[in-house]
Order: sequence, then C-alpha cells, then structure tokens
Amino acid sequence: MKFLALETSCDETAAAVFTDELTVLSSVVASQTDLHAKFGGVVPEIASRAHLRNLFPVIDDALTKAGVTLADIGCVAVHNTPGLVGALLIGVSAAKMLALGLGVPLIAVNHVQSHIYACRLAAGRDIFPCVGLVVSGGHTALFRCDSPLSMTLLGGTRDDAAGEAFDKVAAILGLGFPGGPALEREAANGNPKAHAFPRAFADDGRLEFSFSGLKTSVLYACHGQDVSKAKPPEAGPKRANLAASFQAAVVDVLTIKCKQAMRKTGMRRLAVGGGVSANKPLRAALAAMCQKEGAELFIPPLALCTDNAAMAALSVEKWKLQEFAPADLDAEPNWI
Ligand code: KG4
Ligand code: ZN
Repeated sequence: MKFLALETSCDETAAAVFTDELTVLSSVVASQTDLHAKFGGVVPEIASRAHLRNLFPVIDDALTKAGVTLADIGCVAVHNTPGLVGALLIGVSAAKMLALGLGVPLIAVNHVQSHIYACRLAAGRDIFPCVGLVVSGGHTALFRCDSPLSMTLLGGTRDDAAGEAFDKVAAILGLGFPGGPALEREAANGNPKAHAFPRAFADDGRLEFSFSGLKTSVLYACHGQDVSKAKPPEAGPKRANLAASFQAAVVDVLTIKCKQAMRKTGMRRLAVGGGVSANKPLRAALAAMCQKEGAELFIPPLALCTDNAAMAALSVEKWKLQEFAPADLDAEPNWI
C-alpha cells in the first residue's frame, strides 16, 4: 500500500511517497528561500503563489523517484494544520482533488505531530510514550506523547518561537535569511560565554519558554540603547560572540526544559523535531543531558528535521484506524 503525502504549510513545497510499512520511497522538498530572502522573512502571499507553481512538479518528481505512478497510490495524505492559511490551502486543495480523482481515501495530519513522528520514522521502531519537543519557526512546545496521535501540551512559548528568535537575531546581526543555519555558522567562531544573556524560566519548574527578552538583550548588547539608526555589526569577534552567546542561551533553556519535562512526567524518552533541531550544539547538549538522565534521545537526521512531507507518514497510523478526512476538509491555520 503506497501513500502520497503533501506539505505546504509554510515556505517549503514538499511531496513524499511511503508505504504502510513506513518505508520512505521518495521525499522531495522545493525550498522558496531565495524568493523570501530579500524580504528578510516568509511573505505569505508569495509562499502561496510559489506553492501553486511548484506543487505539481514536486509531486511528479516524488512519484518518479519512488518509481511509481498515480495509479499505484492507495491513499493521499496532507498537513492541513497549523500553518499559513493561504499556503496550507494549496496542499489541501491538491490533496482533495487527487484523492477524489483517484478514488482513494484522504487523510489529514497535523504538521506539529508529524515533526515528532519524524523521530519514529527515523528510529525504525516504536518511540512512544515519550516527551516531545517541537522547535521550529512557528512553534516551541513540549508535549506528553502517549502514542503517535495522542499529544498533550505541557507548555509552549509565551512570545517568539525558538526558530523565530534565531531568524530575528540573525537579522539584527545582518546574517541574512533563513537565520538559523547562518547564525549557527557564525556562532562556531565565537565565545558562548562572552555575554550572559537571560535564560527565561530556567530556574523554575514552569514548562514554558520566552525568547523575546533574550532577543532584546542581543539588540542592546549589539547597539547600546540607541538602536534607531543602528546598522548590523561588521564581521568579526564582536558579531561571532553575540551569535555564540545567544545560541548558548537558547540551547541551555531548551535542554533544561526537556530535562524538567522528563522528570515531571516520569518519561525516559525524548523525541525532538522541527527546524531548530538541525542545530548541532543543541543536538550535542540534548544528547549529553539524556545520557546523564539515563534517557533515550530521538532526533531525526537533518532532512527530516526541517519541513518535509515524509514525516506525514503519521497518516499510516490514522489509516490503520480508518480515520479518513471528509471531502470538505479545510485548512486550519491555528492549532495551539
Ligand atoms: O520546521 P521548520 O523547517 O519550519 C517551520 O515549521 O517553522 O523550521 C524552520 C526554522 C527557522 O526558523 C530556521 O531558522 C530554523 O528552523 N533552523 C535552525 C537551523 N536550521 C533551521 N535554527 C537553528 N539552527 C539551525 N541549524
Ligand atoms: Zn515545521
């Protein structure tokens, strides 16, 4: 049984083919980074139009790479929540049309749950129950994951998501878009102890995050109090130290909160997903913490951390339960 899955929730147009035994036959991602870079962030209208242009070539590519045709597809899956509504609508409309045209079931899956399921996919074995951390451009949240489809929110961010903070601090430092990978590269040359930036809620048991104060601290450390006409700093130790100290603060907070969540729930497994989990210092810090705690850590390889359609293999779990989407399935921009 072969599934075709679509992902268009933000600025990656993606399609994947996988089987009901969770073998990924192909996973194609067309990035829109170049289109959004000059605006310093994702422009929703541009994202929707690019999805419209890219989606069918991406689907063709995914089918070809999997060595199948549409006639071999027995189920169509799509991420219908959360995300940019205009972007989600492109994937949802295409999935509905394909399922109807092929006469096969349609399954809707949640993009954030799929980020955790990417860990299950990569592990090749069951990872539930576990604590799940999703750290992306849109979300920073801890979940109690009792099973692939049962996720209870333990706590989220009060303001920015971690990825959003990476992107905004990268903009302050003039490192370009997308900020996360650029900031990680810059931080590699800096001293993470150069600035003692705040680690919000680190010392209390609240499973919540806040990154806006950290972002403002970087802004003031970079420019002083007069930020109105400030230009990004030149390349050099000052910029690298700011990047390294910011990254260290984010990594510390994420690691501490994961440890607290495992202790609170009594769960000894941690599954981490979302674009920020591609960050190497974060992966190393989580690995060290889990080893100390005697817990198992699941983080997928980089291609499954950032947005993709293979992680929508979560749909196989719904297919087993015959949880199909209605023909009038809608895009739901908000989830938590
Ligand atoms: O999961 P994702 O691809 O899309 C969303 O669902 O948001 O996450 C994108 C976010 C961006 O904010 C990007 O800057 C961040 O993940 N990111 C990183 C790294 N790679 C991507 N942040 C820190 N370090 C990285 N290496
Ligand atoms: Zn995502």
